[in-house]
Amino acid sequence: MIASSPGKAIIFGEHAVVYGRHAVVSAINLRCYVKAEKSNDFRIISHFGKTGLDFRGEHAYISYAIKRFSESFSIRGVRIEVRSQIPPASGLGSSAAVTVATLGALNAEFEAGMDREEIFELARKVELDVQGIGSGTDPFVSTYGGGWIIPEKRKFSSNVEFGVINTGIESITSEMVRKVRELKEKYPELVERIMDSIDQVALEGARALENGDVTKLSLLFKINQSLLRAIGVSTPEIDRIVADVELSGHSAKITGAGGGGCLLTTGEGDFRIKLSAEGVRVEDFEDWREPYNRQV
Ligand code: MEV
Repeated sequence: MIASSPGKAIIFGEHAVVYGRHAVVSAINLRCYVKAEKSNDFRIISHFGKTGLDFRGEHAYISYAIKRFSESFSIRGVRIEVRSQIPPASGLGSSAAVTVATLGALNAEFEAGMDREEIFELARKVELDVQGIGSGTDPFVSTYGGGWIIPEKRKFSSNVEFGVINTGIESITSEMVRKVRELKEKYPELVERIMDSIDQVALEGARALENGDVTKLSLLFKINQSLLRAIGVSTPEIDRIVADVELSGHSAKITGAGGGGCLLTTGEGDFRIKLSAEGVRVEDFEDWREPYNRQV
């Protein structure tokens, strides 16, 4: 059976959300597709290569998803194949999407009958298994789809589209989250205040998104990016890209963990994303027929 789930974009509030502040986040129209087939052993096939269970390598999220699933539903083996539209290690939620889509495909293939809440609970455990740290935002959005204001889990919708600039530099979320935690341990009051400011930006940003106020969004992007720079998750390379975008009259900010990955921009970017997409779903096709090349 094939299941898919969407990537996500954090529009405002990354990192601060780990410390209970608000974030504005949405599923996006790029998906990860996972096919699960019963088997006598464990095989994982993706563009990273072919492995068995691989808890420390490129297939860590999938391996832990299988492990967590098999704690509740005993399975002899499974062949997992992944095709994803979401650039990896780029801040667009590829890890959560592959985790949730794997759980969705296992659920369907083994007729386990899990609902979305149960899929999310397992995906949240997998995030912690692999990263050791994280707010649970990414697996939540990948499971349920749509746009959300966290931590209240209030839904929002917006017709605003953003450009995405991919820096091409891979970034590891857990490393960036740890870096911020270290800074916060060293300068707690200073960093708490920056987190409070990001919180305020996120709240104003949610309103601007709902009202389609692009001028305000552009200003808030600049402020949020400056605050992310202040907590050490920007890089000279990202700062240069942001400066170029600003010279052209638009603004840009990191989306996700930073240190590389993707930027959201009010300008064109390398490609465009729509804010909204369905959460995890079982596909009605049983074999690959290029859905992964289609923007949904
Ligand atoms: C990563 O997409 C977002 C962070 O805020 C980490 C998290 O919320 O788990 C950096």
